[in-house]
Amino acid sequence: MNPINPNSRNEREPYVVTSKGHTAVAINAAAKAGEWIKSRQGQVKELGTKTSAQDLVTEVDKGVEQMIRRLILTHYPDHAILGEEGVEPGAAAAAAALEEAREHEYLWIVDPVDGTTNFVHGFPFYCVSIALVVRGELTVGVIYDPTRDEMFVAEKGKGAYIHGIRASVSTENELAGSLLAMGFPPDREFAQPANMAGLQQLLPQIRGIRAGGSAALHLAYVAAGRVDAYWEVGLNPWDCAAGVLLVLESGGKVTDTRGSAYDIGTRHVVASNGRIHDALIASLKAGEATGYQP
Ligand code: IPD
Ligand code: CA
Ligand code: CA
Repeated sequence: MNPINPNSRNEREPYVVTSKGHTAVAINAAAKAGEWIKSRQGQVKELGTKTSAQDLVTEVDKGVEQMIRRLILTHYPDHAILGEEGVEPGAAAAAAALEEAREHEYLWIVDPVDGTTNFVHGFPFYCVSIALVVRGELTVGVIYDPTRDEMFVAEKGKGAYIHGIRASVSTENELAGSLLAMGFPPDREFAQPANMAGLQQLLPQIRGIRAGGSAALHLAYVAAGRVDAYWEVGLNPWDCAAGVLLVLESGGKVTDTRGSAYDIGTRHVVASNGRIHDALIASLKAGEATGYQP
């Protein structure tokens, strides 16, 4: 982007700060947002629902998204932003919003609070997730966990880092020795049976399973080697975009639940250390738990 000459610019044109890189902007926004979220834990004033009684939203989700939007647009006023709270609830609206957003050269994908149910209950496992897609390619992924003050950062081709220390996926080769993570979206019609089928199929074959309630943090934990894989049927782009880049840049693998290439529109996601990927997908297929028609 060309810097705007302050002497020649139209007064109504936004002023562009040009000295910061995309990643620095994402980190700054995530850190500020995370601090604010943490300060509001236990003080939610407006608890609302979206698609169902399980699909929660608070004034903090909305306020944080607004804060992140403003910070990004301060630096990049011509970039597009796809944020969860700016989209009507439901899979169809998410798909339509993504199709429109895909047209933009620079697209930020934001989940202001991933793990809202945890946040509302005071269960300290939630995060801010910010990704940048440039001409269709994931190029920056930042996830911030304010409870543990952990900043997960990935840049395309440059690796993934936690506070500057390189992250790498685990080296586990067998499902039998694996700790997996998964999740349950609020949709009980379609996603819940598929995820229950996966749980039923995999639990007897593995060491343990966690469903912590934050897709983005689970992906960050795959990147950090803290769990060997994560899968979930029924995700939205903002749940996974940043986490997917973290996993890829940590040496892991991400596909849909059938093993096909991941795209930012993929809703049924498997992310792993790579080594157990095929076995995990085979198991989901065997349990008819992919979320796709067989
Ligand atoms: C949810 C969380 C949850 C996952 C759901 C997501 P939200 O996001 O990531 O772990 O199971 O699929 O919708 O609503 O807390 O941003
Ligand atoms: Ca989310
Ligand atoms: Ca959210």
